[in-house]
Amino acid sequence: MASTTLVIKSSPSGERSVSRLLLDDLLRQRSTTHPGEHVVTRDLVAMGAALPHVDSVFAQAIFIPPSERSAEQQRGLKLSDELADELLAAQTIIIATPMYNRTVPSSLKAWIDHIVRPGLTFTYDEEGRKGLLAGKKAILLCATGGVYSTGAGTAEDFLVPYLQCILEFMGITDVEVYRAEGLVQDYEGAVKNARGILAAANGKA
Ligand SMILES: Cc1cc2nc3c(=O)[nH]c(=O)nc-3n(C[C@H](O)[C@H](O)[C@H](O)COP(=O)(O)O)c2cc1C
Repeated sequence: MASTTLVIKSSPSGERSVSRLLLDDLLRQRSTTHPGEHVVTRDLVAMGAALPHVDSVFAQAIFIPPSERSAEQQRGLKLSDELADELLAAQTIIIATPMYNRTVPSSLKAWIDHIVRPGLTFTYDEEGRKGLLAGKKAILLCATGGVYSTGAGTAEDFLVPYLQCILEFMGITDVEVYRAEGLVQDYEGAVKNARGILAAANGKA
């Protein structure tokens, strides 16, 4: 069976988006390196109001066993169930994202709130919390105006460490990170550098 890759897009900047540019590069490269891969795309920005913040029904319903949920609670978890199912069905998850105010944009945070679900993507057993997505791989494509991988910026990076933390919470420890960073200082250079690193790592240098 063809392996499934879930692609999450969260930049609102359309054709000007650097994270989307890196994603297009990666998907082109993977069409050669991973022929036949089934790609499922969630454009969180295009979803607009169809991706709401989680609400009070959600916050209660996730802690109630499925067979005991009311009709309202089942309805309240419909989108979350759908998004979590997509994640569960994928072997690889690619997240293309800008940094907004040192962390993820709010659409990506809303998606995270929907998919981090007790009993679905993580659970608790005698030994404590356990992620249920072990064995999957994640690839992060991040675009930032400043530099956060080295120097003083590392202390203010709540984007990559946060995403790694959430992925680990769900059991995903195999995480590849690509950054287009320092875009404010040297846009052309930063984009070229990031595209070169991505191409080299994916066999298309
Ligand atoms: C609302 C907003 C907040 C931003 N916050 C930061 C930030 O905290 N740090 C940073 O380095 N760049 C920040 N940026 C710059 C973006 O991360 C940068 O433009 C990046 O290219 C956006 O990714 P995209 O091109 O894929 O949309 C911000 C941009 C916007 C529009």
